[in-house]
Amino acid sequence: MSKQKFYITTPIYYPSGNLHIGHAYTTVAADSMNRYKKMRGFDSYFLTGTDEHGQKIQRRAAEARQEPQQFVDGIVDKIQELWGLMGIEYDDFIRTTQQRHQEVAQKIFQKISDQGDIYKAEYSGWYCSPCETFFTERQLAEGHLCPDCGRPVEVTKEESYFFKMSKYADRWLKFIEDNPDFIQPATRRNEMVNFVKQGLDDLCVSRTTFDWGIKVPFDDKHVIYVWFDALINYISALGYGTDHDELYQKYWPADIHLMAKDIIRFHSIIWPIMLMALDIPIPKKVIAHGWVTLGDCGKMSKSKGNVIDPALLVKKYSLDTIRYFLLREMPFGLDVAYSEEALVNRINIDLANDYGNLLSRLTSMIGKFQNKVVLAPDGETEFDKELIELAKATPAAAAAYFDNLDFSAGLAEVMKLVGKANKYVDDTAPWALNKAGEKGKLASVLYNLCEVLRLVSILLKPVMIETQPKVFAQLGIEGREDLGCWEALQWGLFPAGTEVKRGEPIFPRIDFAAELAAEEAEEEAAAEPVVEYEPLGEEIGIEDFAKLDLRVVTVLDCQKVPKTDKLLQFTVKMGEETRSVLSGIAKYYQPEQLIGKKLILIANLKPAKIRGIESQGMLLSAVLGEDLELLAVEKIADGSKVC
Ligand code: ME8
Ligand code: MG
Repeated sequence: MSKQKFYITTPIYYPSGNLHIGHAYTTVAADSMNRYKKMRGFDSYFLTGTDEHGQKIQRRAAEARQEPQQFVDGIVDKIQELWGLMGIEYDDFIRTTQQRHQEVAQKIFQKISDQGDIYKAEYSGWYCSPCETFFTERQLAEGHLCPDCGRPVEVTKEESYFFKMSKYADRWLKFIEDNPDFIQPATRRNEMVNFVKQGLDDLCVSRTTFDWGIKVPFDDKHVIYVWFDALINYISALGYGTDHDELYQKYWPADIHLMAKDIIRFHSIIWPIMLMALDIPIPKKVIAHGWVTLGDCGKMSKSKGNVIDPALLVKKYSLDTIRYFLLREMPFGLDVAYSEEALVNRINIDLANDYGNLLSRLTSMIGKFQNKVVLAPDGETEFDKELIELAKATPAAAAAYFDNLDFSAGLAEVMKLVGKANKYVDDTAPWALNKAGEKGKLASVLYNLCEVLRLVSILLKPVMIETQPKVFAQLGIEGREDLGCWEALQWGLFPAGTEVKRGEPIFPRIDFAAELAAEEAEEEAAAEPVVEYEPLGEEIGIEDFAKLDLRVVTVLDCQKVPKTDKLLQFTVKMGEETRSVLSGIAKYYQPEQLIGKKLILIANLKPAKIRGIESQGMLLSAVLGEDLELLAVEKIADGSKVC
């Protein structure tokens, strides 16, 4: 029997800047779904890519002083590198600047136009020239100002092509009525239905005010509107409309278009209507997840710059902990506020304390009580039944959520089983069974725990792609794909007689407080010290300065004054004369360092006695905050005047 097909897509991302954990969320979710479907025997196909045209990209390229193509090439390289780092196994990566896409987009524009669904008209509305953006009356700031830059807007007329969306409104409403599951979650469906019921305008599908786009095939003054261009990627990547359309024939319609809620309107209204106009099947589902938000700034976004780089997180923690965190943390369809503390808590609680610790306890007990060998169950405890029942029920429970892309709830089901297994260890107390000589029951308990860990590692495999091999290695069943695939989700397959190989903890606990403290200390050490400059003194005349007699002196000797912390006693030579001078700078210099140096002395200062020693003048130094340096000269002879 041939395999059932499955086709899932992410949005194609704008390469206008580096991607963040919001994009990573969508892509990891789609990747996990693709892996899950493959595990379940589907012929699954996963498409992602980049949406490279439009005014925003053209502007960014100009800011970077690059040609648009060169600019996007650089960013797309980085995006692909990121997906490599995150273990994303896409089947195809489409770029809208590729010829294979551009040709199909032009053909589609032509076809829809030929059948009379695209017409030319004058676009009239409000226009902000500095921003090159059209606005409706409603969008303007008070006083007919641009809502973006606050400058006055003007009335504009631009010749544009329009797509007759309005013609399809009723057909769309009927489609939604017949396919109530098409838009998920239901809250979004209701929003979209209300939107369309208020009346659907025709869509402006070409622009003439910039040229970074696909040309309208019959009018090269115009480029195709970037959204009209971008949505087509889902079929151009499959070779739709070409003479090599095998993939299209096989995979279309898409089973899931996945995205965040901000672009659901394009995918659930404009895209299906484009497909109706082309007379080709509508995708089965469009699923909108929530936003990853950051602090007070709300939605994490490239243009706001409030972003967290997924690559840094993967390097700091590990691939599987980040993939797990992203999918576990975001409740289906709702927003989630990101914080590193939440991330660390999630890793510590679910993965270090629960999952990793269970493996560690288990291999340790099998080592101690059974000489490392997993024995066949031989007896029963009163707690077995409940654990085994849950273990048997968990695959179907988790799968029901996974099937609907609700990874958060699906992973929670799996972790419930892990929690139960930890409780089972406490309840059955294998150490007590061992002590009491209950070898049969002990064998059963340890066997059951091995089975739970094996099943859990299978259920987590679509999301956590590096963990199962580690768990299997410690359980002594390394490389046993027959025990690690979806079909092996059956109780009792664990081979008795296996020798476990206890290893390092698979998810070491993270001490967030200690890490924060270390980071802060590092930052402090790197920070510039805050210095306070002395306020400037009162103004003086040159005659005041002339009263000072400053001279160069050579240090003949320098000693610490006994029983003081601060004082150094200098013997200095000033021309013919030798003097004794005291200075409170012991903290800054070793006395012997200073011998031979040529310093500057206020030579006509009235002598003073400090601790019974006479000081004949004062040495000059520069002071800033905690720093002090004696003023010195290099070549000129002592006795010289400083002026
Ligand atoms: O919209 N939280 O590209 P884009 C969750 N090129 N997901 C987020 C997110 C956040 N804070 N920020 C972005 C475009 N995403 C168009 C798409 S498709 C034919 C064209 C994810 O680079 C989410 O999947 O702005 C969202 O839909 C997508 O990135 C938008 O990426
Ligand atoms: Mg966006």
